[in-house]
Amino acid sequence: MGVWDDVLRENESVFRDPVALSYDYLPKLVPFRENEQKRVAACIKPLFSRQGGRNILVYGLPGVGKTVAIRHVLNEIEEHTEDVIPLYINCWKKNTSYKILLEICDLIGYKFTHNKTTTDLFAVVKEKVNKYSVVFCFDEVDKLEDSDFLYFILEDIYRTSLVLITNYKNWLAALDERIKSRLTPELLEFRPYNDNEISEILKQRLQYAFVSSVWQDDALSHVIQQTAHYEDVRAGLYLLKESGICAEEASSKKITMEHVQKAVGKMQEFTIKQTQELEGDVKFILSLVNEHSGKKIGELYDVYKEKGGLRAYKSFQRKINALAEASFIDVEKVTGSGGNTTIVRQKDKKLTEF
Ligand SMILES: Nc1ncnc2c1ncn2[C@@H]1O[C@H](COP(=O)(O)OP(=O)(O)OP(=O)(O)O)[C@@H](O)[C@H]1O
Ligand SMILES: [Mg+2]
Repeated sequence: MGVWDDVLRENESVFRDPVALSYDYLPKLVPFRENEQKRVAACIKPLFSRQGGRNILVYGLPGVGKTVAIRHVLNEIEEHTEDVIPLYINCWKKNTSYKILLEICDLIGYKFTHNKTTTDLFAVVKEKVNKYSVVFCFDEVDKLEDSDFLYFILEDIYRTSLVLITNYKNWLAALDERIKSRLTPELLEFRPYNDNEISEILKQRLQYAFVSSVWQDDALSHVIQQTAHYEDVRAGLYLLKESGICAEEASSKKITMEHVQKAVGKMQEFTIKQTQELEGDVKFILSLVNEHSGKKIGELYDVYKEKGGLRAYKSFQRKINALAEASFIDVEKVTGSGGNTTIVRQKDKKLTEF
């Protein structure tokens, strides 16, 4: 083996197609979400025979494939028929009724929106859209500032299916009664992927993104393990990309454990983008501990699930341990008749008050 065999030359790269690692990239396959896609397709199906469709609320933690799976379904509709029109809108970017209506006009090719009010735009959309059957997909609906347009769609658009996507199942409870009673959506949870599923998804993506065999086995295993820890495929895509960049900076033909560790060090950047979501969940768990101080961890998990918590038990346990390590709560391991368990308690206020 020559001394320079592992050194990347100037015109070489470990990447085949780095675009395949971007979060918006639509992979050809979305494994492990076939059943969820079928549920959504079943809600849309009546539109194909010119009947009204059903509405569905899709919910789940960040990075579990909600957007990618649903966009796939919408793309298939677009490819197979002209009778049903899929319209996808991200409500984080378009967070008011006015902006959403403008976006719908843009998507259906109506250009004369200048100087028009929300009511004018409603009228245009109603006239144009009612000639067809339409699937409205509103992603990240919890980011909406107002949801009046939903009322309008439910009242005035005849052949439609609404697919709403959110991180919070409870978003529905807070909706205006007038909308809620007309929406009556089916509920569909996207559960977190297990470790094997994460491994498969990342390995598939890797084939598009990297030159073959640049990844060393232990390095890739570490990426998979870290991704499973975050339960978020986006974390894995971030690590794959950053590790590749680290390898290139070191002019290495191989991506090694050292490069992955550097990328993991940069994870801070990634998690900052997610703090809102993560903090929200941790705060929720903390409030449950305070409310139910002295319960066994299993009982506490039952309460967490009952109140809409989405994490798997293992990950819930990790959050509890992290809160205990950071001294927000106390945990005590006890041995009872049923074996070992952990009692979770609110922090003793008397100690912290001094
Ligand atoms: N089953 C899968 N197959 C291939 N790629 C996937 C799969 N699940 C997720 N991904 C990829 O992981 C990333 C995150 O997925 P996605 O954007 O669908 O998450 P999400 O559930 O919509 O998260 P959020 O709630 O934060 O919007 C995307 O780049 C997506 O392509
Ligand atoms: Mg999404």
